[in-house]
Amino acid sequence: MDLKALIRDIPDFPKPGILFRDITTILNHAEGWRTLVDDLSDRCREYSPDYIVGIESRGFILGAPLAYTLGVGFVPVRKPGKLPAAVFSQDYELEYGRDRIEMHQDAFPPGSRILIVDDLIATGGTAAAAAQLVSQGQGNLVAYAFVVELVGLGGRSKLPAAPIITLLDY
Ligand code: PRP
Ligand code: ADE
Repeated sequence: MDLKALIRDIPDFPKPGILFRDITTILNHAEGWRTLVDDLSDRCREYSPDYIVGIESRGFILGAPLAYTLGVGFVPVRKPGKLPAAVFSQDYELEYGRDRIEMHQDAFPPGSRILIVDDLIATGGTAAAAAQLVSQGQGNLVAYAFVVELVGLGGRSKLPAAPIITLLDY
C-alpha cells in the first residue's frame, strides 16, 4: 500500500506559500487507514509506552487507535481553554502562526513512559511544546511518532532528544 500516493497536496492553504499535505485522503481510504494505523503501531510498540500523548486535532485521530492497539492510555494535549481540570500550558510557534497547548497536570503519574504522536512535523514547534508539557508532568519521553515529516523545515532539530519515528518524508 503506497501511503504517500494517498496524500493530497493543496497549494496556498491555509496561507499563501504553504503547501498543505492533506492526510484526510488516507483517513477515508479503508485499506490505507488500516495500513497506516498498523504500520505506526508496529513502529511504536518497541518503545513500550505507558501512554500515548496526542496533539489536537489531527494527533487525536492517530493517537486514539494507536493507544487502543498498543493497549495503553491516551492523553489529549489540547488547544487553550478546552481541558476542564488543572493544566500545564506551553506557548509555541508553527509554520503559519502562533498558539498554545495544554495538558492536564494529572494526566499520567510521574515517570510514565510517554510517546508523543501527531500527523505531521513541520517546524517542530508543536511537538517541542508537547515535549515541554510532558517534561512539566515529569514524564519519561520515550519517542515521537509522525506520519509525515517536512524534512526541509528542520523541525526535528527543535525537539528535545528522543527517538523520532516517521513514515513519510517530504
Ligand atoms: C498541524 C499539524 C501539527 C502541526 C505541525 O496542526 O497537525 O500539529 O501543525 O506544525 P509545526 O511542526 O510547525 O509545529 P495545526 O496547528 O494546523 O492544527 P490541527 O491539527 O488542529 O489542524
Ligand atoms: N502543519 C504545519 N504545516 C503543515 C503542512 N504544510 N501541511 C499540513 N499540515 C501542516
